[in-house]
Amino acid sequence: MRRIVFRRHGGPEVLELEQTERPAPADGEVLVEVDAIGVSLPIVRLSRSESAELPQSPGGEVVGRVAATGPGVTDFHLGQRVAGLAFHGAYAEFTRVAAPFLAPVPDGVDDAAAVSLVRGGQVALGTLRASAMQPGESVLITAAAGAVGHLAIQLAKAFGASRVVAAVGDDRKADFLRGIGADEVIRYDQTAEAPVDVVLDGAGGEAQNAALHQLAPFGRLVSFNAAGEKVDVNELRLHGRSIIGFAMAHLAGRRPEVYARHREELWALHQQRVLKPAIHATLPLAQAAEAHRIMEARANLGKIVLTP
Ligand SMILES: NC(=O)c1ccc[n+]([C@@H]2O[C@H](COP(=O)([O-])OP(=O)(O)OC[C@H]3O[C@@H](n4cnc5c(N)ncnc54)[C@H](OP(=O)(O)O)[C@@H]3O)[C@@H](O)[C@H]2O)c1
Repeated sequence: MRRIVFRRHGGPEVLELEQTERPAPADGEVLVEVDAIGVSLPIVRLSRSESAELPQSPGGEVVGRVAATGPGVTDFHLGQRVAGLAFHGAYAEFTRVAAPFLAPVPDGVDDAAAVSLVRGGQVALGTLRASAMQPGESVLITAAAGAVGHLAIQLAKAFGASRVVAAVGDDRKADFLRGIGADEVIRYDQTAEAPVDVVLDGAGGEAQNAALHQLAPFGRLVSFNAAGEKVDVNELRLHGRSIIGFAMAHLAGRRPEVYARHREELWALHQQRVLKPAIHATLPLAQAAEAHRIMEARANLGKIVLTP
């Protein structure tokens, strides 16, 4: 089978297409014949990390069909259409996925939507729930045009947010963001028209600090990025603000019933046409490096998908 691998650290140029043996599923794993793969920022960053193991085939979200089941797996059958998270080896024609991270895909959810919802949707919904957003509250979302952010905008509106502010690095993304429901679009160096009750921060760094200062008293910032800045707890107290950390792995591992319920809710919202994943580009697997270049250029509007 064909797969993408990197054998040295570096940018998109280190991704190579190779021929290799089809893997066999281990205990508790399912072998998936992959139809589509989602590209995500943590994976794009991985090849540049000096601590990343070598050689390595990138992980990611996949949708496809069950090709084999490992010992102990009883919930899946051959040919069944499934979507899930492969922590390694997702950029391939076949990949192994641990059964708890895999689920059937209902009719009416196409491949691109499935890979978009299985991770970006889970993070968008999980962070909104973690924020305890109530109808009538206002929400500011950073990295708003990204795979998570653009779904979070739609969910916040669907759950009754009074105002959704989309924060981005480049205001050429404004038309896209207004088209999916943002009431206001700002750059990270700009201030929203009024303080907000909730911030979902997928950007970190200066964007996090700017967003934090826009929280009203009783406001909550949910951080889910890997670039969070230090905060002054005394400042939080003075302004009556809170910060909440969100990691999908903990939700999936420690609250599997919530994770599964969120997944069903996401499928249903998509089938009801409330939640519409935007696909920036669908590229063949051999062009994985191009997909990573688009992400590094911060140019994606929604999700980038690879097809083997
Ligand atoms: N906690 C979790 O469980 C979890 C799970 C999945 C993803 N995440 C995090 O969620 C965030 C979004 O991830 P994603 O994969 O879905 O990607 P994405 O939302 O498509 O994000 C890409 C966007 O992030 C913004 N960005 C900010 N800093 C960037 C940088 N240094 N390099 C490139 N883009 C940057 C860019 O938009 P602007 O130029 O407009 O800022 C870019 O278009 C990431 O921080 C990721 O680590 C967290």
